[in-house]
Amino acid sequence: MDTGVTEQRTASGLATAPGPRHVAIIMDGNGRWARAKGLPRVAGHRAGTENLRNILRAARDFGVEIVTLYAFSTENWQRPRTEVRALLALMEHVIDAEINNLDAEGVQIRHIGRTDGVSSRLVAKIVRAQERTAHNSRLILNIAFNYGGRAEIVDAVRRIVAEGLQPEEISEESVSDRLSTAGLPDPDLVIRTGGDMRLSNFMIWQLSYAEFYCTPTFWPDFGREDLRQAIEAFRRRERRYGRIG
Ligand code: IPE
Ligand code: IPE
Ligand code: MG
Repeated sequence: MDTGVTEQRTASGLATAPGPRHVAIIMDGNGRWARAKGLPRVAGHRAGTENLRNILRAARDFGVEIVTLYAFSTENWQRPRTEVRALLALMEHVIDAEINNLDAEGVQIRHIGRTDGVSSRLVAKIVRAQERTAHNSRLILNIAFNYGGRAEIVDAVRRIVAEGLQPEEISEESVSDRLSTAGLPDPDLVIRTGGDMRLSNFMIWQLSYAEFYCTPTFWPDFGREDLRQAIEAFRRRERRYGRIG
């Protein structure tokens, strides 16, 4: 069986690769990467933004259509105030520094998560980045920022109640349609760097049948070849969805 990750594309631009279509990444290990080098944690966060360009380009070359990145969780507010402030500042910096390139590369940016607690200046930047790239279609990039899977489900339930849906109108589809990922296929593959093996409240609805790939590599060291390995591992998996193999 050939499981090599192909970078071939057809003339139409469609990937010839057999998936994954949607890859979600828990970008973990920035702090430990920095500590191992005797640097402050924030240096790890900064380093963690420097491979984004490469990873997104590689994902597209490997035929991935949608990438969802876990950038800041609703639980991350519990970190020391200085680290939270640094993470928020970095988010602003990354938008400013990368928006031209992302737009030129045909990336459509979407924010998933809440906006409460986030400065109006940063919210405005996020909104502008979404509007500016809304017409792009080469890669969809969901940025999970101030995101929590449970909060997302709570928000969906609130919408269902506000819309006055009847009990019999509530289905997996009607819930999915009210999540921030409405209209997108669920992730096929979730990658967690940094060695831990947990979801940390990430896409708990959408990942119900995703293949899990964990690597001890810290996020700042995770590069194109690591992504290739994760995708190759995915392609060797048998997805049974409850059926027998
Ligand atoms: C991931 O790296 C980035 C965020 C959670 C924002 P960490 O900051 O969690 O790094 P470790 O896990 O402490 O090494
Ligand atoms: C998950 O990492 C959140 C992000 C990568 C943004 P954490 O470092 O916050 O997760 P825990 O606290 O180890 O579960
Ligand atoms: Mg961590």
